[in-house]
Amino acid sequence: MSALAALAATVVASDVYRVSLDEFDEFINDNPLALVEFFAPWCGHCKSLAPEYEIAATALKEKNIPLVQIDCTVEDALCAQQQIQGYPTLKVFKGDAKKSVPYAGARSADAIISYMTKQGLPSVSQLTSAEFSEFVDSDDVVVIAHFGKKDSALNSTYNAIAEELRENFVFGAVEDESIAKEQGVQYPSIVVHKKFDDKIAVYDGDLADSAAIANFISLESMPLIGEVNANTFSNYAQSGIPLCYLFIDDEEDLVRITKWVEPRAKELKGKVFFAVLDAKLYGGHAENVNLKQEFPALVVQNFETDKKYVLDQSLEVTEKSIKAYLDSFVSGELEPTVKSEPIPETQGPVYTIVGKNYDDVVLNSKKDVLVEFYAPWCGHCKSLAPIYQELGEYFEDDDNVIIGQVDATANDIPERIPGYPTIKLYKANDKKNPVEYRGARNLEALIEFIEQNSKAEAEDEKTIDHDEL
Ligand SMILES: *[C@@H]1O[C@H](CO)[C@@H](O)[C@H](O)[C@H]1NC(C)=O
Repeated sequence: MSALAALAATVVASDVYRVSLDEFDEFINDNPLALVEFFAPWCGHCKSLAPEYEIAATALKEKNIPLVQIDCTVEDALCAQQQIQGYPTLKVFKGDAKKSVPYAGARSADAIISYMTKQGLPSVSQLTSAEFSEFVDSDDVVVIAHFGKKDSALNSTYNAIAEELRENFVFGAVEDESIAKEQGVQYPSIVVHKKFDDKIAVYDGDLADSAAIANFISLESMPLIGEVNANTFSNYAQSGIPLCYLFIDDEEDLVRITKWVEPRAKELKGKVFFAVLDAKLYGGHAENVNLKQEFPALVVQNFETDKKYVLDQSLEVTEKSIKAYLDSFVSGELEPTVKSEPIPETQGPVYTIVGKNYDDVVLNSKKDVLVEFYAPWCGHCKSLAPIYQELGEYFEDDDNVIIGQVDATANDIPERIPGYPTIKLYKANDKKNPVEYRGARNLEALIEFIEQNSKAEAEDEKTIDHDEL
């Protein structure tokens, strides 16, 4: 086969390469950097990725970063060798077919281009004055350090930070002092250039404090008022900083509310992130953060505790109500909004637990509490219902045991429930380590589970009594 024919065989009328098992190792070893997508033709996410992947392939071709696609229904041996478990799987290779790292960016053309470009750069690019402007324009957020030969401590601090954060940001260093002068920044200094807000932020802390520098870069890279969408959500959720969502479904509200929020966002920088959520597209997310789908609406979500703080939806959203709301959130006075059904006036043999009485009944009571977490639509929960009722009746006169259940879709509960029904026993003497029930869902087995676990506890107590004698 001629070289030209070989090329025609591997390039399928696009800038995405198709490589077979025989060619794979050589192809990867010949390219210092490549992105490989393992896919199956029937996979929906693969289909939606395809046009984005094409665009990215064309853009990255100029930078000599090939994008490859492997069809696992054809190249099954290659996919097995690469231990592909699901589709699409994207892997970044750096000149060694035996080693790869998962692609960790979003699945859009822009995100792929930006991510792979960063992978292709050294962690810090040394810039001449001629290269400076183009480099600063090369991404939404670009970090530049201005320093010279004598600042060797700063050089190593900066290199370490860049190595750590290289997947998120582009890092450059400029030795030429006259560039710092032109930019109106000190020498040495570290500067974040961004395509939004104030365009430039200069670090004014201790240049030896690498944690503070990294924190500054992360904070400054987020817009003052950003946007929550499928691409940005995980950045917010992982930041460790509470997020104030602005649920907005109307252009005029957008203008008014962002104007009111802006000065507060400046004040609260580093304490609370602010981001607009387009309620026309993602209004359903309101339910997840304890809002009714009535907009505009504001809510702060603390991702660490998963508590939500709603701006009372019976109030009008005004400059004044926003100010009062944020003040009370920051001072800690604002109570989290608990999603809850009403507490029932009377209880039967099976205790109805809701968001508002959960802590009191399950966590703070001095009883063994069996909790069934259920969903109204769950079939297995429905078949369990008569058995659970009998279980409740069996323990009805036992003052030390509560048989309870909670509709986990209608009430806030402090843990994540992976499936329904989930049944856990919160033992009187160890509420922090509930025991999950994994046995058969029949009356005898459930009774035995409760009795065994409370019997163990009774014996513990006996031993303690004995020791005290
Ligand atoms: C900083 O360190 C890098 C890598 O060790 C080196 O190439 C570069 O010249 C240093 N920069 C300055 C201004 O000394």
